[in-house]
Amino acid sequence: MVLRRHCLALAILFSLISFPVSAEQGTSLSLLPVPRSVTMKEGRFRLTPSFTIAIKRDAGPRLYNAASRVLRRLSGRTGLFFPQDYVTGEIFPDTASCVVTAGRKGDVVLGEDESYTLLVTPKVVLLESKTDLGAIHGLETMLQLLNVDDEGYYLPAIVIQDAPRFPWRGLMMDVARHFMPIDVIKRNLDAMAAVKMNVFHWHLSEDQGFRIESKVFPELNKLGSDGMFYTQDQVRDILAYAEERGIRVYPEFDIPGHSTSWFVSHPELASAPGPYTIERHWGVFDPTFDPTKEATYEFFDKFLAEMTALFPDPYFHIGGDENNGKQWKANPAIQAYMKQHNIPDGHALQAMFNKRILAMLTKYDKHMIGWDEILHPDLPKESIIHSWRGQKGLFDAARKGYQTILSNGYYIDLIQPAEFHYLNDPLPVDSLKVLSENEQKRILGGEATSWAELVTWENVDSRIWPRTSAIAERLWSSAEVRDVEDMYRRIADESFRLEELGLTHRKNHDMMVRRLVNNGSVTALKTLLQYIEPVKIYARHSQGVSYTSSSPYTRVVDAALPEAMAARHFRIIVKEYLSTKETTLADEIAGICNTWKQNHSLLLPTIRKSPVLKEIEPLSSNLEVLGSVATDALEHLRGGASLSAETALRYRVAVELAKKPYGQTQLMMVDAVADLLTAAAAPKK
Ligand code: ACM
Repeated sequence: MVLRRHCLALAILFSLISFPVSAEQGTSLSLLPVPRSVTMKEGRFRLTPSFTIAIKRDAGPRLYNAASRVLRRLSGRTGLFFPQDYVTGEIFPDTASCVVTAGRKGDVVLGEDESYTLLVTPKVVLLESKTDLGAIHGLETMLQLLNVDDEGYYLPAIVIQDAPRFPWRGLMMDVARHFMPIDVIKRNLDAMAAVKMNVFHWHLSEDQGFRIESKVFPELNKLGSDGMFYTQDQVRDILAYAEERGIRVYPEFDIPGHSTSWFVSHPELASAPGPYTIERHWGVFDPTFDPTKEATYEFFDKFLAEMTALFPDPYFHIGGDENNGKQWKANPAIQAYMKQHNIPDGHALQAMFNKRILAMLTKYDKHMIGWDEILHPDLPKESIIHSWRGQKGLFDAARKGYQTILSNGYYIDLIQPAEFHYLNDPLPVDSLKVLSENEQKRILGGEATSWAELVTWENVDSRIWPRTSAIAERLWSSAEVRDVEDMYRRIADESFRLEELGLTHRKNHDMMVRRLVNNGSVTALKTLLQYIEPVKIYARHSQGVSYTSSSPYTRVVDAALPEAMAARHFRIIVKEYLSTKETTLADEIAGICNTWKQNHSLLLPTIRKSPVLKEIEPLSSNLEVLGSVATDALEHLRGGASLSAETALRYRVAVELAKKPYGQTQLMMVDAVADLLTAAAAPKK
């Protein structure tokens, strides 16, 4: 393919006079996040073995590397043998199939220009941006355009103009409660880049672990980590890896609470005498730094000097959440100090501590971020408030003059559906009435939070992806993009693309299932797993199971995915059937219920050979019951006669019992069966 002298402006002009696209072609797009503006055009750009990418203006090695990775992914997906090994300066833009022009190397800092324009014609792909970071986003969009028809792979002719809605689109990973090895971090950075997220918040210290090497205080990681920590070389490797993908990285050291692991080596800095050991349980614990001792600040000045030098991003998170104040109340010296300095309560004492830490961070050229508990009348306005307890905290902070980011509603560890996170907008339409324009500008974006009490390296990807891509879209795309069904269609595609990138959310699930059946047949367990989800919010901690950091996170509840998509599908088709009574839907429901009825007897021999499955046997039995109830209800609905009152009552009791969780998992389509039952029992008109 040879095309001389491309000029983006001319090409766009050409595209504007081409024919509009058919609706059918438009719906085949699977872009995530949805770009700011998309105009479909007539025609298709064919991927052929002669496909090449050229960078027209040198914007630094990062863009060459990103383009080379995209070339390999295109080649891998299509099976086409492209002649180009790497994208270098050697391919001339005049002859390339895809020409990338970035104005300059971008800075991976808050607020950098990430916009791009992507033009695909039947002859050429042109990507233009102000910075290489925009071009890297555009390359991901190009990959998402890849489609197939009878003639082979193609990109649809299209014009895309794109830029993010919020500049702060983050993922927080808690690597302290359960340590996450380097490859876990890297593959999650890959996934973030694929959905245009740009901030990695690294939660590095907790009661349960201190996860980074300190050369100034090596005893911190030596005694506080069980040997599971990142060396500073590994940290630099992650920083470089993220920078290559346009992702900022900033650390969180959670203080003054959540800090037991520090006191294993430094009991003298705690507010109660030691000794301390690494915390093994989950919850909110008492150990807290003593904010009344100068030694505490001498320690932090040295520690922060080291860590602020290691992490180049201007932002630095100090945690500040869930300090229960118990050690402060119980310590007479701290109480006397508070009296002497007119400090009325623990919140004010923490504000004093925060101010001292802020002064150090300012000295080291950092902006301080903290969870919303740090909000206090004494807190200087240059701090950033990270809202986790409610949207109100976000708005309050913005009104008081603080910049702020939202995580409330993005707690992906609470096992809520993608839809819930997707519709959680940092700036919902009605907020525009209650916040001034300046206050709105202070809301920088948000972060998904992967808290790690109940995840290990094995299933963490499945807890983060693909649901986090719904959050990525909320933070990138315009507020009007809110079509939930379309989001589900696209995250299913994104899930497949993420797997191609190396994410393990599907394959580790398969591996965990194989372990659960003791290497036996997985079929029946997989059928059951399609309809169950872990219990929600914090219910796992209140059902008589006492978890610690060394508990097995290998049970059915750990393998079960946060969203059972087959259950969701069943709920949808039942709703549709009850309103339309369409025969094809009834047939589909009947087919599914038939599978449920047969599954229990298929699963029983597996359960016998795998005692770990015993706890979910009642769920499997209930699936059979639901299958029978739904089948009978459906037959009555189709046949025209109502279910007798006596049968309906018996069924209702059975359906109610099927709501009960077992093994901390629950069937997710019981209400839909109840709806079928109600309709079948209603007197016929
Ligand atoms: C938090 O979830 N304690 C910030």
